[in-house]
Amino acid sequence: MSNKIIWITGGSSGIGFATAKYYLKNNWIVVISSSNNEKLAKAIKKLKNEDNSENIYKFKCDITNINEVKKTVSLIENNIGNINTALLNAAAYSPNKNQEFDIKNYELLIDVNLKGTLYCIDALKDVMKHRDNTIAIVSSPIGYRGWPTSGAYGMTKAAQLNLAESLFFDFKKIGISIKVINPGFIDTEATRLNSFKMPFLKSAEFAAENIYKGLVFKKKFEIYFPFSIVFFVKILRILPYKIYFYLWKKIGNF
Ligand SMILES: NC(=O)c1ccc[n+]([C@@H]2O[C@H](COP(=O)([O-])OP(=O)(O)OC[C@H]3O[C@@H](n4cnc5c(N)ncnc54)[C@H](OP(=O)(O)O)[C@@H]3O)[C@@H](O)[C@H]2O)c1
Repeated sequence: MSNKIIWITGGSSGIGFATAKYYLKNNWIVVISSSNNEKLAKAIKKLKNEDNSENIYKFKCDITNINEVKKTVSLIENNIGNINTALLNAAAYSPNKNQEFDIKNYELLIDVNLKGTLYCIDALKDVMKHRDNTIAIVSSPIGYRGWPTSGAYGMTKAAQLNLAESLFFDFKKIGISIKVINPGFIDTEATRLNSFKMPFLKSAEFAAENIYKGLVFKKKFEIYFPFSIVFFVKILRILPYKIYFYLWKKIGNF
């Protein structure tokens, strides 16, 4: 049987890069893409050095550019093979330390995290139809509920989560399985921008292992890890507003 193919958007660093490494070790054909050619070239060099693998490919693909996304999907499908799993992981992140409302930040995060994800799904839906393939969207537990200082990022992650839930039903009809991945705090370039202490911080390798095992061996819609922190956030999600707002006031005088 020929090797399966995964396309990982945002595969040049962090969770995407570590997941690419994990899939390669497990004999998948891995295609990584991102918007920055230099970062991509460095990432592919590292992956080839570590794994000495011919099963790794890269494409420059800025997900905010619908034509680049369409071109990437058709290049993979025509030149490498059918995409079995698409990990829609690419995202922009910019912490808002001062609780300021910055419209430019909102626009950027909507363009990358939301419109970019939608462009990928749009390009994938026709080629993946009735092939029993998987589209996995990397969202975040921050999307469960509005947190202080994370209006822009949290809003895009909440929208991704809602989108995944909705498409779960609609895409089942066309034979595409939709999954959502909700990691807790993972040590990456993105979270190194945070100025607060991140509880239960885990490595990108930990995230990669959980993503692989969740997508390959389990049939669940949501893959989340580590259990302790994400389960705690799940409880916050169901609290009445009065208690939820009171807790934030106690935690950080918000
Ligand atoms: N780290 C965490 O604690 C955490 C927790 C929950 C959820 N997440 C989610 O996990 C995913 C990965 O995050 P990370 O922490 O690994 O961040 P990261 O290290 O900053 O990686 C983000 C990736 O997205 C790519 N990217 C950014 N803009 C892009 C664009 N316009 N087009 C294509 N690629 C683009 C980046 O590459 P280029 O710069 O080369 O484009 C990079 O490869 C994100 O969806 C994030 O929201 C992370």
